[in-house]
Amino acid sequence: MKVLIVGSGGREHAIAASAAKSVKVEKMYCAPGNAGIAAYAECVDIGAMEFGRLVAFAREKEIDLVIVGMDDPLVGGLVDEMEAAGIRTFGPRKNAAILEGSKAFSKDLMKKYHIPTAAYENFTDPDAALAYLENVSFPIVLKADGLALGKGVLICNTLEEARDGVKTIMLDKKFGSAGNEMVIEEFMTGREVSVLSFVDGKTIKTMTSAQDHKRAGDGDTGLNTGGMGTFSPSPFYTKEVEEFCSKYVYQATVDAMAAEGREFKGVIFFGLMLTKDGPKVLEYNARFGDPEAQVVLPRMKNDLIEVIEACIDGTLDEIDLQFEDNAAVCVVLASQGYPVQYQKGFPISGLEEFDKQDGYYCFHAGTAFKDGQIVTNGGRVLGVTAKGQDLKEARANAYAATDWVKFENKYMRHDIGKAIDEA
Ligand code: AMP
Ligand code: GLY
Repeated sequence: MKVLIVGSGGREHAIAASAAKSVKVEKMYCAPGNAGIAAYAECVDIGAMEFGRLVAFAREKEIDLVIVGMDDPLVGGLVDEMEAAGIRTFGPRKNAAILEGSKAFSKDLMKKYHIPTAAYENFTDPDAALAYLENVSFPIVLKADGLALGKGVLICNTLEEARDGVKTIMLDKKFGSAGNEMVIEEFMTGREVSVLSFVDGKTIKTMTSAQDHKRAGDGDTGLNTGGMGTFSPSPFYTKEVEEFCSKYVYQATVDAMAAEGREFKGVIFFGLMLTKDGPKVLEYNARFGDPEAQVVLPRMKNDLIEVIEACIDGTLDEIDLQFEDNAAVCVVLASQGYPVQYQKGFPISGLEEFDKQDGYYCFHAGTAFKDGQIVTNGGRVLGVTAKGQDLKEARANAYAATDWVKFENKYMRHDIGKAIDEA
């Protein structure tokens, strides 16, 4: 089978590495891909939002399966366009990807179907949002409705900050049209857990849990990023939490989407917060997490392509999803200055070490080839993942492996998985 993966980050590298293990795959392409993905797939210079060119390429190469990794093309309707051209594609259609594409939509869905989440109001009028703020307690959370690279969420401690936040999102349009609408919601406290799942429209199978570290600096300081590291499984995702979410969140979400005429096929990522009043949904994503995929997929025992086909065919109930009884930790190596300002183009050395040992992976997030060399090409550069028998061993292995890789301006957090010590 010929497979085309759409995307260019560490997540797509993890998808490609996992798909490459399938006996079903004879040839893989990735658009646009990166220098790491090139080890598994032929990278083609077509952007993830160039739908016309992607469809033409898939037709020309007689692609049997397209896997869309990224949120933007999903929310923009790439799956619909591929399907209209008769090409089998994994991911939600546009009318279902709205689960991630509009926070106002997802909040209304949760309210309507009694799925536990923070109390909120949606606003399209900045004056109404400002008036509402007069009567809330702080901290309060402001969210731009649309996609904003994980940066459209502002936690405001005072009325002053919140007023500025409304201005930033709705008037200054810092996150572009994502700020045409806004959610204002109750601030929650608790541990965060990411649960990814496969969905075939009716059946949902959850994967092993993970936890991301979104802030740039140690001790959860600094700005929000796309994610600085992950571990899997989360020791805080207990049997009780799983049972609660199975009862009130997972199937309920799939059924709610179907009831709305928005059948969801693909990956639903549940961002959960374990509050003292029970688990609540922070957000939904309509795709694998990045860097959650980098710790979840290496632990999956199933053939990824088989599971993906079952999602498309509506036969997921026949799949026995299994994960290794071990742990994995991913430490992101970024460019100094990420997520604000950073330099690119520095040569990377030491990557070959990862081919020599089992249980170690170096997923490329932002790399490119330049003059025959692999160089840094983004804020998040690499995701160093290691497995271990348990989380502590996996963390020690991952941090040891971060030393193998060298590049100028290398930056990482040193406390990925520190929460494990409190479990
Ligand atoms: P989101 O993109 O909605 O997941 O938000 C990004 C991050 O902001 C989350 O991972 C949380 O750390 C934080 N966050 C979002 N919503 C809330 C909330 N209601 N209460 C507390 N923190 C939140
Ligand atoms: N790691 C969070 C995300 O993929 O949105």
